[in-house]
Amino acid sequence: MVMRISVMELRTGMFIQKLGGSWLQHPFLRGSFLLTKPDDIRAIRDAGIQEVWIDCTKGEAPLSQAAPTSPSGPETACEQADAPAQPTPEAACAASKTAPVPSMASEIERARKICRGAKVAVESMFNDARLGKAIDPAFTLPLVEDISASLQRNASAILSVARLKTHDDYTYMHSVAVCALMLSLARELNLDEQQTKLAGVGGLMHDLGKALMPLDILNKPGKLTDQEFAVMRAHSAAGAKVLKESGAPIEVQDIALHHHEKVNGQGYPHGLVGDDISLLARMGAVCDVYDAVTSHRPYKQAWDPAKAIREMARWEGHFDKRVFNAFVKALGIYPVGSLVKLASNRLAVVVEANAESLVAPKVRVFFSLRSKEPIPLQTLNLASPSCKDSITGPEDPEAWGFKHLDELWQ
Ligand SMILES: [Fe+2]
Repeated sequence: MVMRISVMELRTGMFIQKLGGSWLQHPFLRGSFLLTKPDDIRAIRDAGIQEVWIDCTKGEAPLSQAAPTSPSGPETACEQADAPAQPTPEAACAASKTAPVPSMASEIERARKICRGAKVAVESMFNDARLGKAIDPAFTLPLVEDISASLQRNASAILSVARLKTHDDYTYMHSVAVCALMLSLARELNLDEQQTKLAGVGGLMHDLGKALMPLDILNKPGKLTDQEFAVMRAHSAAGAKVLKESGAPIEVQDIALHHHEKVNGQGYPHGLVGDDISLLARMGAVCDVYDAVTSHRPYKQAWDPAKAIREMARWEGHFDKRVFNAFVKALGIYPVGSLVKLASNRLAVVVEANAESLVAPKVRVFFSLRSKEPIPLQTLNLASPSCKDSITGPEDPEAWGFKHLDELWQ
């Protein structure tokens, strides 16, 4: 049962179903959560929020239930909130401290579902922009919450699933992937909830301007010519303009406008240098490039995640070093899908990251370097004390001609 109350009635132990007021005011990334800290109550009041919806079945009821604040009258004091009927409350609950940690396999299934829904929503947002309709930036928030909740349950699952794209859904899935990467990076950088939320929304909308680019160039199956590339460069300013007209937060506009800037001043559209590029835009630059180079394109084989990190680390002047280092820490040196060589002279694919040790993930062994032949699949937890194998280094899938690595971790 859901009940609307004044923020003055809030106390710890209540389950917030929905916060009143504009979503932008909210100091929390999640819309639904259990109030456990007095600081959170203070943050809600300080944000200027007047009322909240609480779920009495998931947490404490107000002390004065006899005087409900709902204008609908006593019989409807406990009502179905008009919060979006998204899986958000459940997702937020599942992400709470008491939830058991799901296996990689089960979270991959959930992540697939979230990505499918997010892709459809992003596609519809692009179509609206194409037709000149107004975009409602607030509608992305439930998606960002779902993606964030998945990341909290398992840091690798949704990042790995969002990397898988087809030519047709590339632009939309790229937006979903950059959103997930931005959220993950924001957590690593210890950004507050508000900045984390803006990072996620900005990631989801960073390429909105592509909706206004000529379709023959946007959907071209081959590499762009210099002239076509020059046309496409207009997408960042075009996206920022649409977002401004839609009333999107300035930070979200800024991510769209400046995610192609480089710290050495050689990016576009303004050639900004170093800290003149906002932190969120510098984060956007790293996440955008990583997802682009790890995605299969018709004209280019995808790099495996470990190779992408190695190559990007060499691009002097492109990325903010602090941001890039945090990004590597968030993903691991060997993210899921990376090809590695083991001390046992076998090749394996990383199937699950290990937050405790970046060099000891779970791997799936599939190839013998002695016989130069595939071997029966075997999953090893390199962090297990009983496991005597270890990673000796990364391997380049292109050099081996392996094209099925993504099938091995799914
Ligand atoms: Fe872009």
